[in-house]
Amino acid sequence: MVKTNLKTLKIRAQSEIKTAKDLEELNKIFKRYLGKKGELTQVLHSLEKLSRTKRIKIGQEANQLKNFLKIKFDQKAQEIKEKVRKEVEEKEWIDITAPGKKPALGHLHPLTQVKRKTEEIFQAMGFSVVEGPEVETEWYNFDALNIPPEHPARDIWDTFYLKNGLLLRTHTTPVDVRYMEKHNPPLRIITIDRCFRHEATDASHEVNFYQIDGLQVSKNISVANFKATIQEFFRRFFDQEIKIRMRPSYFPFTEPSFEVDMVCLNCGGKGCPACQKTGWMEMMGAGMVHPAVLKNSGLNPKNWQGWAFGMGFDRLCMMKYKINDIRLFYSSDLRFLQQF
Ligand code: DAH
Repeated sequence: MVKTNLKTLKIRAQSEIKTAKDLEELNKIFKRYLGKKGELTQVLHSLEKLSRTKRIKIGQEANQLKNFLKIKFDQKAQEIKEKVRKEVEEKEWIDITAPGKKPALGHLHPLTQVKRKTEEIFQAMGFSVVEGPEVETEWYNFDALNIPPEHPARDIWDTFYLKNGLLLRTHTTPVDVRYMEKHNPPLRIITIDRCFRHEATDASHEVNFYQIDGLQVSKNISVANFKATIQEFFRRFFDQEIKIRMRPSYFPFTEPSFEVDMVCLNCGGKGCPACQKTGWMEMMGAGMVHPAVLKNSGLNPKNWQGWAFGMGFDRLCMMKYKINDIRLFYSSDLRFLQQF
């Protein structure tokens, strides 16, 4: 009776030890068999009730089994510890020779990139890069530029007026006046900055946009100087020879005034949807600075002449990168921005 018990006990104990998942479980199994009240311990305790011969025989077997199981427990405990150690090692292992993770770095906005490139080109041609306030007085935005209060031209430059009488500038041309007031000619400047207009937004209009304004004032300055400068700028900006043409136009602050077109980069002048089949892209307004503007800036028109131009800067960037919607610049859409 006891003997068969020992045999099945051995088989049971062995299989339980084998499947123990961790030390805690193994401990419980140990207690069940070899603890104070463990099954095998009880067998050993009950030996005294047996006859001498049985006691010796079964006692021997029980003790052998006890030793056998102890070894099995030890082995299993080692095995579990080793397994845990390996798991920890695997989890916590770091390859100190692995290359570092590249942090996601941002970069300059495409408008800023192109702004810097444009400034560089003009600086190389002797121009200073200057700035003026985005919130302007009516005087600098309109009157000084020869646009009196009732002048119809104010309609095309409708803007946002602040309660204190100031306004958000509609162009960067007022910077020309501010600069001429404080600096003596000869002078050459460009300003690339933010402007605002009160108008509905669409693919080519935003209430907030960028404009580049250029000005050169000196003696004996003519339209020829302007044409050469702007042609050279386009050549460097687009990295290719660019054909331009000038058409008569009107601006209150220039006389004569003209519109400058460049050959459509999309079709090379053949005519396509991008240029409304004309083969030309309208690029900027320009002209010889109006004597009234020179006078308003504190310069004597008899002594000084100059040319000026104004160009939508977003538009210039759109042409460079073939972007078809101005709103993309202000949408903060990473899918767009990450392409630059
Ligand atoms: N400021 C004008 C505009 O916003 C553009 C312009 C035209 C600027 C002629 C100039 C210029 O400096 O000479 O439409």
